[in-house]
Amino acid sequence: MKSGTGTIRRMWRRLALLALAAALASVVVASGAAAEGEVVLPALSAEAQLGEAAYGVYCAECHGVNAAGTDQGPTFLHRVYHPGHHADQSFLIAALRGARQHHWRFGDMKPVPGVDPATVELIVRYVRELQKANGVF
Ligand code: HEC
Repeated sequence: MKSGTGTIRRMWRRLALLALAAALASVVVASGAAAEGEVVLPALSAEAQLGEAAYGVYCAECHGVNAAGTDQGPTFLHRVYHPGHHADQSFLIAALRGARQHHWRFGDMKPVPGVDPATVELIVRYVRELQKANGVF
């Protein structure tokens, strides 16, 4: 009898955890979906246009068209990538040295072959202009 109540209590606890996990997941999905579906595309500066082209070559495969993310990597239109949290320098480091999985569950980012600092600078310009247009900062 006692163990029966214990089992039910455990089940409830598990359900509550599942519900919590689902709620958290939908928050993550919601911010991703906002990025995918409704990215505001600003008029880009000349530098950012170059950055966009380079981004398409080196980064879009994982970080997605319009930086909206894919199943291989995160969107940059998330407050995690606010310039105050990820300074421009962190883009350079990520591109040249890679990044350990720590914010998400996409796995590690490997260094991006063939990309140089000047190109990453343009890519950052592009990402910042997109972020600004999308209310990240
Ligand atoms: C093969 C996939 C892949 C490619 C290509 C890729 N990234 Fe990443 N990137 C990732 C993943 C996965 C993460 C998430 C790591 C984590 O869990 O925080 C990431 C994270 C980052 C971060 C955050 C690093 C940190 O310090 O938290 C930056 C900045 C970044 N990428 C920039 C770039 C730029 C710029 C390019 C193109 C030059 C690029 N990435 C190309 C997969 C990729």
